Amino acid sequence: MENPFVFGKTVGRADFCNRSRDIEFMHHQFNTNANTILISPRRWGKSSLVEEAARKYADKKVSFVFIDLFKCRTPEEFYEAYVQALLKTTNSKLDEAFQFANKWLKGLLPHLSFQPDPNTEFAIKFQAHTSVNVDDVINLSQTIAKRKGIRIILCIDEFQNVNHFPHPIDFQRKLRSYWQRHDRVHYCLYGSKRHLMSQLFESSDLPFYKFGAVHYLKKIEIEEWVPFIVGKFKKTGKEISKEHVLKVCKAMESHSYYTQHAFQILWYLSSTKVLDEDVDKALERLGEQNELQFQKIIESLTTYQLNFVKALTQGVEALHSKQTIKEFALGTTATIQRSIQALLQKDVIDVMGKEITIIDPAFKWWFIRSFSS
Ligand SMILES: Nc1ncnc2c1ncn2[C@@H]1O[C@H](COP(=O)(O)OP(=O)(O)OP(=O)(O)O)[C@@H](O)[C@H]1O
Ligand SMILES: [Mg+2]
Repeated sequence: MENPFVFGKTVGRADFCNRSRDIEFMHHQFNTNANTILISPRRWGKSSLVEEAARKYADKKVSFVFIDLFKCRTPEEFYEAYVQALLKTTNSKLDEAFQFANKWLKGLLPHLSFQPDPNTEFAIKFQAHTSVNVDDVINLSQTIAKRKGIRIILCIDEFQNVNHFPHPIDFQRKLRSYWQRHDRVHYCLYGSKRHLMSQLFESSDLPFYKFGAVHYLKKIEIEEWVPFIVGKFKKTGKEISKEHVLKVCKAMESHSYYTQHAFQILWYLSSTKVLDEDVDKALERLGEQNELQFQKIIESLTTYQLNFVKALTQGVEALHSKQTIKEFALGTTATIQRSIQALLQKDVIDVMGKEITIIDPAFKWWFIRSFSS
């Protein structure tokens, strides 16, 4: 029997747990053509949500185009990925894409090279040493939508990467000035660096201010996980109690990726009925499997930062109090501020108002076990 728990790639259909309200919200956004900004820490399920919302969206006159900015570091790389994704998704064959460009994209055509590709049917690249007209490129989404009589929903993952492009503000200003005039294209922009994403869309002096509705994705509720997980065990001939599910979900703080990972291990090492010791062993294994990565994080921390993490994992709330500073050797209040900034940069913590949390629940779980004495 195949292990029913999936992690490390986006999930959909039977592997997708609930999120019915988020899907409803996304569909409402798609229906009203209002742009959407989706923000959550890493691996909570943004990409899966957008894909599942797209799959469940019934309107056949809508084309979903997906772009991942994970590897894009310059506007040129962005433009190429943009043109490629738009032309490929809205044309099923190389010939069709070429005909379309030949008819409607006269300015752009001389700069494009169309090549067959064994893995993905065909590839579209910019000709070497070419200088394309940026206006034509950015308007391509609207041009295609108009000429093909469709609506396009353009989904751009890891959008915060535009912050690392050379002259980021100029680039963003340009994008926004065109995109805001596109009435046939809905932009769904998402990313995992919360502080960068909120800055991009919520700072009144930046070009993307109020570009769309900002949605902070929440974790899947524990009550949703329970039937999902119990059902998966049952379908594969195994039994797990609600208490065991709760114990794992709590240890992993309902984090989507780690919840799936932990149950994948638990399913694998349990017999037909999950026992108490199986649960402990599964969490232990999960810690072991990530140990190298966690140790690397530890090695990257200064003593003050490490002590700060210790205080956090012990649930200390008055982090700036004299007593805490002394007990955990946190330096001075200025040192604490520097530790917070460094830990934010290293993606170890997240700060929401006054609340500071450790981003990775498995790291936290492992840290408590390794450093509590
Ligand atoms: N709705 C869901 N139901 C069940 N598992 C989910 C769900 N959403 C996400 N997951 C689990 O979390 C993992 C990460 O999901 P996904 O890649 O969609 O997150 P992400 O927020 O886009 O991550 P990243 O920040 O790395 O881009 C998936 O591989 C899957 O194991
Ligand atoms: Mg993602």
